[in-house]
Amino acid sequence: MINQEDFFKKITAHAKEYGFVFQSSEIYDGLSAVYDYGQNGVELKNNIRNYWWKSMVQFHENIVGIDTAIFMHPTTWKASGHVDAFNDPLIDNKDSKKRYRADVLVEDHIAKIEDKINKEIDKAAKRFGDAFDKAQFVSTNPRVLEYKKQIEEIGHRLYRSMEQNDLEGIKKLIEDLGIVCPISGSRNWTEVRQFNLMFSTQMGSTVEGASELFLRPETAQGIFVNYLNVQKTGRMKLPFGIAQTGKAFRNEIVARQFIFRMREFEQMEMQFFMRPGEELNWYEYWKETRMRWHLSLGIPASKYRFHDHEKLAHYANAASDIEFEFPFGFKELEGIHSRTDFDLAAHSKHSGKKLQYFDPELNESYIPYVIETSIGLDRMFLALLSFAYNEEKLEDGTERVVMKFPPTLAPYKVAILPLMKKDGLPEKAREIMSDLKQDFMCYYEEKDAIGKRYRRQDAIGTPFCVTVDHQTLEDNTVTIRDRDTMQQERINVDELQHVITEKVKIKM
Ligand code: GAP
Repeated sequence: MINQEDFFKKITAHAKEYGFVFQSSEIYDGLSAVYDYGQNGVELKNNIRNYWWKSMVQFHENIVGIDTAIFMHPTTWKASGHVDAFNDPLIDNKDSKKRYRADVLVEDHIAKIEDKINKEIDKAAKRFGDAFDKAQFVSTNPRVLEYKKQIEEIGHRLYRSMEQNDLEGIKKLIEDLGIVCPISGSRNWTEVRQFNLMFSTQMGSTVEGASELFLRPETAQGIFVNYLNVQKTGRMKLPFGIAQTGKAFRNEIVARQFIFRMREFEQMEMQFFMRPGEELNWYEYWKETRMRWHLSLGIPASKYRFHDHEKLAHYANAASDIEFEFPFGFKELEGIHSRTDFDLAAHSKHSGKKLQYFDPELNESYIPYVIETSIGLDRMFLALLSFAYNEEKLEDGTERVVMKFPPTLAPYKVAILPLMKKDGLPEKAREIMSDLKQDFMCYYEEKDAIGKRYRRQDAIGTPFCVTVDHQTLEDNTVTIRDRDTMQQERINVDELQHVITEKVKIKM
């Protein structure tokens, strides 16, 4: 069985080889943690965004979409808390000169202890065979219990220090745990410092007249500052939501794992406004609804889990992550946060504008409460790449790499392939193509043997290949090949539209 590190390398190599993702400015040796999407990647990305948009905006009568600017008035970020508190704790190793996120060093240490627990479990499972009771083992084995206690104590110290902004406490924890720099192997650490993650730039032509602006680190604030505009012009009644997708920027210190943690990325966020007091019911509703969205793509439930936050941000009264099992373990894919009235109240205070709702039933005005759902488009893209990538050994002894994307999201829906480049087959294939491309992304290809062309379509995840042969000219039938089963069926050209639509349309 292939190990997960190699598997991840294969995915990233495949993403490049088949035009999904390229390193940004690659000819200049790239820009760290910034990526470009290629010809197939952009289709997949657009389809994910569209699937999210339809499910959130089109399928919910009380949710509307907006598209706000990346640049916002600088006070926005003061009000939201990003100027003062959007920080990561940094530490440098003096020997390797490498910079790390101090909390990530501690979390990696915890992950190593978790690995030890898993090794104990694997050993015991082998020893006891069918009689092995994992739950009992984990709750009674002295070594596992000791590891669990260590994890709890370390986690507790880390979260307490983070919460109290106790940078010395974090440094002490790193020293007490004997954490070494993975590059130099030394414990020669600097002090821990706070580092703001926002990128800044200047607006205005002269240095004196220029003002400092930030590139938005989240799309959410564009929604909050437009709450009143949308509520009034859309005559929205509570509860209602505002959705948007768009770029966000963070000067991430630990930028790694391909498109998992980027400096420029895209978010798909929705803020749902409601009467105060109703937020925890809506929080549960959105947790469940968002998980259903993920499962609707046909990805197994075992790939997902909730991680309810114990440590809450000062503005939240509940928060949970939907985690996905990436090749490097379960990691956050989406956040669902109950943000109370924190953002609207802060913007009211800083702008002097009343961001309220007049509730005709209660005959009173109040600041609505908010549930946020926030998912990274690039992370969802990576989740799909890791789910879809399959290496298969075929009956004839050959191998294929097939991207089993959910058909709705696949970059191309159908490839039209004339069996030969003669006898009028290309002309017939072009005729079919010009008809189908009105509704679907179609790929036309006539070069190479048909088997090779099938493999190329498998590698980019095209759900259907339609082959035009001599019989097509006689009776207007084609073969249609299913990507996953590789079964071929002969159908009339007039049926193609219906067969493909049934498989690729958005159903929710
Ligand atoms: N408005 C709330 C917010 O921005 P967040 O947990 O910081 O919350 C939400 O980000 C989502 O955005 C994450 O769950 C993740 O999918 C994505 N995300 C955050 N930082 C990212 C990064 N550096 N690269 C790629 N995606 C990122």
